[in-house]
Amino acid sequence: MHIVVIGAGYVGLVTGVGLAGLADHRVTFVETARDRLAALRAGRMPIVEPGLGEAFGAARDRIEVAGSLDAVRSPDVVFVAVATPISEAGDPDLRQLRAALADLRAWSDAHVSVRSTLPPGLSSRLPALAGRPNGSRMSTNPEFLRQGSAMRDFRNPSRIVVGRFPETSPEHLAVLEAVYAPLEAPRLTVGVVAAELIKNVANGFLALRLSFVNEMATLAEEFGVDADEVLAGVGLDPRIGPDYLRPSLGFGGSCLPKELQVLTVAGRRRGLPMHLARAVAQVNVEQQDRFVRRIIRDLPDGGALVGLLGLSFKADTDDLRGSPAVYVARRLLDAGHRVRAFDPAVRPEAAERAAPGIEVVDCAEAVLDGAHAVAIATEWPQFAELDLAALRTRVARAVLHDGRGLLDGDAVARAGWAYRGVGRREREAADG
Ligand code: UDX
Repeated sequence: MHIVVIGAGYVGLVTGVGLAGLADHRVTFVETARDRLAALRAGRMPIVEPGLGEAFGAARDRIEVAGSLDAVRSPDVVFVAVATPISEAGDPDLRQLRAALADLRAWSDAHVSVRSTLPPGLSSRLPALAGRPNGSRMSTNPEFLRQGSAMRDFRNPSRIVVGRFPETSPEHLAVLEAVYAPLEAPRLTVGVVAAELIKNVANGFLALRLSFVNEMATLAEEFGVDADEVLAGVGLDPRIGPDYLRPSLGFGGSCLPKELQVLTVAGRRRGLPMHLARAVAQVNVEQQDRFVRRIIRDLPDGGALVGLLGLSFKADTDDLRGSPAVYVARRLLDAGHRVRAFDPAVRPEAAERAAPGIEVVDCAEAVLDGAHAVAIATEWPQFAELDLAALRTRVARAVLHDGRGLLDGDAVARAGWAYRGVGRREREAADG
């Protein structure tokens, strides 16, 4: 089939490259951002996503990249995957979505499926936004991709959800089924609002899980107990499971924080209290605040230097959106301290934009020189490989704040460092 994907961002690129590799579909990306267009035409990926570049290269002869719909021949189906960021007030910015749907009026009878994340209630307006009398050849198709494992998640989806309009035709649904035919996964075809809520509520539930784990980790700390052994026992309950149960300095990304806001705003606008959604977001803020306050507590007054390991919101991405690491850097800088950071995927100019005044170095060891404290803020596996005993002499103060539970506190203490973990007993350096 010939598939057009509008928006070659985190969702669109993975979707298009995934489909191109699925059943020899031909895929045309339509991307208006000139830098992304240039990168893709040169075969460079504009985002960091393991396996994406290789898959793009392998399907290159079935992939086109266009700056507009003009020169694109009529497709079997169009996926709209443009960004729908939300403002501080929780309102989605629909400019890109409106522009994409307006451009699509040229293809009044094309099959269109919207993959962009939409707040519940907005989906039912899509046919009108597309200038169509109804949604007979339209659907939504929310995605459940995790950054850092998006290609794997695309190829092994836990479910394929299609949101249908009252008028969505069986022919349209058959087109979508043909697109995804090779994928083994439960299929759900529900109303568009239910489809959007499946995504919003799933992410809200994941966030709830994390904030609950983090709140309990803090409680474990107060009892002087390692949360990890408590959570290992909790995770053995098959109804709870061991995954997604790791305490941290907080969760980030462009999705979980945003989904909480979308759910809260949607509920509040309908007069609902949304106690839990609001509390989940509040706990996440307090978790990050607690982490940075504890760093500051151990620092000498003003002008101290903190070595920060990790800036992205999770490992295997360069995405700084909602990153707890960036929050920590900005709080330290605002408090008059210096921050020297390293992240294997984040470009220095992106770090500087996110936390003005931050110093960026090109290797993990360099953040230690003269540091009065070192903090791990992103779960990059390589940070667990540092030879802390050997590196002990490079720091001014051997205090390590492990915001991701990457290290064994006792081993860190034996290496001559004070250990401060999340949900972990504090350890003093072994040599006293
Ligand atoms: C999330 C959802 O998992 C995905 O289904 C949805 O489509 C998009 O949002 P993503 O935000 O990319 O995916 O990453 P995820 O792996 O969920 O991590 C989110 C945040 O939680 C990261 O900051 C991560 O470091 C943190 N996290 C995750 C923890 O702190 N502890 C955990 O156990 C897992």
